[in-house]
Amino acid sequence: MWGNNRRKKVLVLNGSPKQNKSSTMVITNAFLQGMKEYEDCDIEVINVQSLHIIPCTGCLSCWGHTEGDCVIKNDDVLKVKEKILDSDIIIESFPLFFFGMPGVLKLLTDRLLSMMLTYRGHKPPEDGSSFHGLRYMDTNKRFILISTCAYTEVDKVYDSVISEFDYICGKDSYFKIFVPQVKTLVDIKNENKLNRFLTKYIEAGKTFMEIGYLDKDQQASLSKPPFSEGAYKIFLDQFWQEEKTR
Ligand SMILES: Cc1cc2nc3c(=O)[nH]c(=O)nc-3n(C[C@H](O)[C@H](O)[C@H](O)COP(=O)(O)O)c2cc1C
Repeated sequence: MWGNNRRKKVLVLNGSPKQNKSSTMVITNAFLQGMKEYEDCDIEVINVQSLHIIPCTGCLSCWGHTEGDCVIKNDDVLKVKEKILDSDIIIESFPLFFFGMPGVLKLLTDRLLSMMLTYRGHKPPEDGSSFHGLRYMDTNKRFILISTCAYTEVDKVYDSVISEFDYICGKDSYFKIFVPQVKTLVDIKNENKLNRFLTKYIEAGKTFMEIGYLDKDQQASLSKPPFSEGAYKIFLDQFWQEEKTR
């Protein structure tokens, strides 16, 4: 048994501009299904694209004059921050955009600077922990990134995302499920293949709910592509050909 002794609250921040049509959410939903099958829990999905988010003005008041609080109150960010603080498991589900997170999620991330401790010129920690330090440290909470991308080379294309989250959260304080080729897998509408592929994410969700983590090998095995190099190329060529003529 990990975490608090209460029914778990799971918050999903869906950062795909495609909202409910997100292919990343197909993976995330399989993971959530597994979690729920292992232990009933409350799941809330927020489509970040549908939120009203005023961009961070860079005033840094949340580190000084109003320490811990953002001065912007007339949009949806405070509500999201409260939900993050109230959740046991936070999942950011997003497509890889230009080797980073999509703009909508970056807008939200910037506005959550109040969740980091004030920077006072200290040296970055050498043990891999969060550069700024987290204002609301809670070792019971779990943070998971679920992301999909087009390139098969997950070990390269996520370098920036990994650096960013290592510096924000600390190296080993979040979990990564990065999956290539998923949009194509969804597009080809082969239900059997898709369902077979999703099984391991359902299983991973169960494991996560049971023990509260996924080890490095499990995270790596979840990054295996659904297609061989040759088959993937054929599907992509076909897709772009059809796109031209539609
Ligand atoms: C603006 C944009 C930028 C993208 N940049 C990358 C990228 O840098 N690397 C990559 O592998 N895929 C990239 N992709 C592909 C998406 O990450 C991929 O199709 C993803 O699975 C879509 O997920 P979604 O359906 O949840 O939005 C990009 C797609 C768009 C629209």
